Amino acid sequence: MKILNIGSLNIDYTYSVEHFVRAGETLAARTREEHCGGKGLNQSIALARAGAKVYHAGCIGAEGTALVKELRDSGADTSLILRRDIATGHAVIQVDPTGQNCILIFGGANREISNEDIDNCLSAFSAGDILLLQNETSGVAYAIEQAARKGMYVALNPSPISEELLKSSALKHVHWFILNEIEGYELSGEREPERICTVMREKYPGSTIVLTLGGDGCMLLDDSGFYRHGAYSVSVVDTTGAGDTFAGYFLGCTAAGMPVEETLAYASMAAAIAVGRPGAAASIPLAAEVRRALAGVND
Ligand code: RIB
Repeated sequence: MKILNIGSLNIDYTYSVEHFVRAGETLAARTREEHCGGKGLNQSIALARAGAKVYHAGCIGAEGTALVKELRDSGADTSLILRRDIATGHAVIQVDPTGQNCILIFGGANREISNEDIDNCLSAFSAGDILLLQNETSGVAYAIEQAARKGMYVALNPSPISEELLKSSALKHVHWFILNEIEGYELSGEREPERICTVMREKYPGSTIVLTLGGDGCMLLDDSGFYRHGAYSVSVVDTTGAGDTFAGYFLGCTAAGMPVEETLAYASMAAAIAVGRPGAAASIPLAAEVRRALAGVND
């Protein structure tokens, strides 16, 4: 089983700030750092560090070379990444003293992936393989439909949620929804976690709903019922990429055949380690670190 991630590749400009900039305010940042990011890239790196074989497809401009190197160094296959004469996607990220962030993205090359590009990527994959998507690239609904037609399993992290995605009939082909409460509310109209999962399953029968709940852990609903896992407590440095770390580890462990409870423990611990470090991709732990940390809490 191969995993293809058609996902965003961003240069993250991260500013540490006293508080998030308010309307009309000019604020001096304390520090500025440049990191590799993009929900797509982060999730591929998490998959690779979890031990999965992942093929990353996406699109960059000339300044995106470091993103490809970061993916390759982490063990992801980068042969499907397109290079075009357009600006690489980027994100402007403010991180406050509590480690919370707010993110502004510029899609750039991420939004220049055509249906033909998607067909080309998918041609190397077949029934039983997995397609992972977020919502920072163009052609998400088309990719879901074409992958489903081939008999691939689709995992969707519907982030950032958009009107276009909410209205898409392609969502009925999604096998795993990996989402947070905000996305869950937009898709289900419900705010209470169990209701989000239940209504999502009613809307998309047969799917598995994986709901992340920040400091309250996570919840999963599939054919066999509800599973829950608490969050591991850590001192928070930067939450950027924590959800991506969870998503990549969840999918990697699931694809490897790990039981649900263990998978949720791995994904939760990987995300907890990531929030204790600065940056997005750079903060994602290796599987050995996650194993050691889990052994520590289980002692
Ligand atoms: O989820 C975190 C990511 O969101 C950042 O790396 C940024 O690039 C945006 O895509």
